[in-house]
Amino acid sequence: MAVLLTGGAGYIGSHTALCLANAGFEPVVLDNLSNASPEAIKRVSRLTGKQIPLIEGDCTVKSDLEAVFAQYPIDQVIHFAGLKAVGESVAQPLRYYRNNLDATLTLLEVMAAHGCRQIVFSSSATVYGTNQEMPLRETFPLGCTNPYGWTKFMSEQILRDAGTADPNLSVVLLRYFNPVGAHESGEIGEDPSGIPNNLMPYICQVAKGRLKQLNVFGDDYPTHDGTGVRDYIHVMDLAEGHLAALNYAQAHRGVEVFNLGTGVGYSVLDLLHTFERVNGLRVPYRIAPRRPGDIATCYADPAKAAELLHWQTKRSLDDMCRDAWRWQSQNPMGYRTAQETDA
Ligand code: NAD
Ligand code: UFG
Repeated sequence: MAVLLTGGAGYIGSHTALCLANAGFEPVVLDNLSNASPEAIKRVSRLTGKQIPLIEGDCTVKSDLEAVFAQYPIDQVIHFAGLKAVGESVAQPLRYYRNNLDATLTLLEVMAAHGCRQIVFSSSATVYGTNQEMPLRETFPLGCTNPYGWTKFMSEQILRDAGTADPNLSVVLLRYFNPVGAHESGEIGEDPSGIPNNLMPYICQVAKGRLKQLNVFGDDYPTHDGTGVRDYIHVMDLAEGHLAALNYAQAHRGVEVFNLGTGVGYSVLDLLHTFERVNGLRVPYRIAPRRPGDIATCYADPAKAAELLHWQTKRSLDDMCRDAWRWQSQNPMGYRTAQETDA
């Protein structure tokens, strides 16, 4: 069963490619490598013992997608491709709308032309906006606070409308919470370019000595210790969620949306102290002002995914911290070598 993974060389896509290959699927990766290294898929091929094709191409370019569908018998698609930095999206909104929406539209057109009718889409908890009751359920009203979020919201709508127009289409929208960690081998992981925006890669780089100290953004939120609470999910649990979503798409028609989270929220300091404890390290930090746009608390109700996808998370916060550090300590420069970084 050939499955196209757009953006499959990235963080979540590479872990999902590994998971799918181990489960007997044939992942085919299309990525423009704007935020990924070909080394990730080389390593997935090595870890799984299966040669995973990586095609360098752009999802917004119809001929690039046509070439993949012409060469491989694609039955299903997981659409990871997209730009994902919230702050950058505020500064460069048109680039985000152009890339993320064009990618979704072009992909759907090419899928239709080739009779491919099953798609799983990477959405985000960010579509729930602010001021919601917790835990977040799929039925809650939506609203976004930045252009990146709106591209997810709009892509969801485009996919829903496509599903309404074609009753043979299967659309599974997955709203991820906060993916962290790495494959237990330490061979693949998250490799942000420049200074990380997100908490776990920032902690890892402080622990490695690449950054001086962590800034904890606010300690006056209405949470148990005053710092922001999030639903961190191990990237391998998330990858397994995609396997469940593909199986669901195969067995059902129509549009369905699922939260992929653990259902448990941890604070910044919970994560930091767990990281220090399981890895036997100290991570210097200071309390800094709140980051604009952040909310106090965000966690999922994952009951729908448990019931309909038969999926639930298995890995703990300890696992997330241990695996994130294994990847970082084995690959201090990510997929780049020290020589490449100096150049
Ligand atoms: P990532 O940046 O590591 O992966 C995205 C991949 O898409 C990259 O490899 C990039 O090179 C590729 N890409 C971007 N535009 C493309 C285009 N036009 N054509 C082809 N390839 C293109 O990000 P990730 O963390 O693996 O996220 C995967 C998806 O999940 C994204 O859509 C992201 O918005 C979504 N998501 C991520 C998070 C998170 O915290 N990591 C949370 C919620 C949702
Ligand atoms: N934080 C710090 N210091 C840092 C980085 C983060 O204290 O250096 C705090 C934040 O204030 C927040 C928590 O750590 O309380 C998590 O922050 P992240 O940046 O790791 O994650 P967010 O919840 O802000 O956002 C992430 C993705 C978004 C996505 C959202 C919901 O970056 O793209 O989860 O899925 F939309």
